Amino acid sequence: MHLGRTTLPKFLTEQLRDQPGHTELVSLIMDVASAVKAVSAMVARGALGGSLDVLASANASGDTQKLLDVTTNTTFLRHCEWSGLVAGMVSEEMDAAYDIPEPYRRGPYLLVFDPLDGSSNIDINVSVGSIFSVLKHEGTERPAVADYLKPGTAQVAAGYAMYGPSTLLVLTVGDGTHGFTLDREVGDFVLTQPRLQVPADTSEFAINASNERFWEPPVQRYVSECKAGAHGIRARDFNMRWIASMVAEVHRILVRGGVFMYPRDTKTPLRPGRLRLLYEANPMAMLIEQAGGAATTGRTRMLDIPPTELHQRVPVILGSRNEVERIERYHREYDAGEDRPYVSPLFNDRSLYRTEGTR
Ligand code: F6P
Repeated sequence: MHLGRTTLPKFLTEQLRDQPGHTELVSLIMDVASAVKAVSAMVARGALGGSLDVLASANASGDTQKLLDVTTNTTFLRHCEWSGLVAGMVSEEMDAAYDIPEPYRRGPYLLVFDPLDGSSNIDINVSVGSIFSVLKHEGTERPAVADYLKPGTAQVAAGYAMYGPSTLLVLTVGDGTHGFTLDREVGDFVLTQPRLQVPADTSEFAINASNERFWEPPVQRYVSECKAGAHGIRARDFNMRWIASMVAEVHRILVRGGVFMYPRDTKTPLRPGRLRLLYEANPMAMLIEQAGGAATTGRTRMLDIPPTELHQRVPVILGSRNEVERIERYHREYDAGEDRPYVSPLFNDRSLYRTEGTR
């Protein structure tokens, strides 16, 4: 059935053949792919599996957990702990790092993952996903927290699974970003979108606009200019999308371009952003950069951030390169005081509310 088609292990072996120890990384990614197939089956059962039930517990970031959050987390652990390929794992759903239990051996990689991203979408049957990142681990010692706190540039592989009408696995091992579709009858991931490329320009942006009053002025400026469309300085109309599922938003951007923002806001003053650096922002940033796009906090390239804690949150702005660079410029101009103060369209020159003396 797959004659002439490239399956995941064939693709990985061809991509990594020249790297020392490549068979171990191929095997680890195949273990992750097995976990993804199992999660895909669980998600597809929906309410039939009882997995939409809400638990009384919260995860390390304070989010309410569903049974599916917990079972998908356990699925990733069980599929990846036994092979002697990982030295430890960190997940959104666990406060502390996971130690490889006896009798299994520790291996040369660290696996960091979010087993079910966007899980608030589960009860309304909208696409969700899993996100993962692989780091190298030196030595055979039990990893310390500091071993996980490497910048995104240290990732050797990153990817996500998307559980939508079809189940996709999109990944990079440092040479482009490639998409695979699960052939459910055969059980193979088949290469369907080789070398995805994010167009440099776009007229589509994604942001949770209900937070507008909490954003910083450079983001308010950017979004307000997009909304002004053909009547504003961008001189063209923009489209807005918000699925509230980061995997689905990033996938849309990888396929047709766009910009995704979960910027710094003052809604929860003690946290600098909503999304987590190690298992959301960094893997997505690597995938987007490998596809020719850009990823930033607005002030720093995402992959250069030195992490300080396992569940650290960061502002995230990623997607089409020219738009991301424009948003970075707006942050620079704002920080340098060169930006004119943000003026709501309600009160600008063309406003209905304009009165003499306000110009
Ligand atoms: O894990 C975080 C997440 O679910 C992302 O997948 C998504 O982009 C975001 O939160 C949605 O946030 P909000 O609920 O503010 O729309």
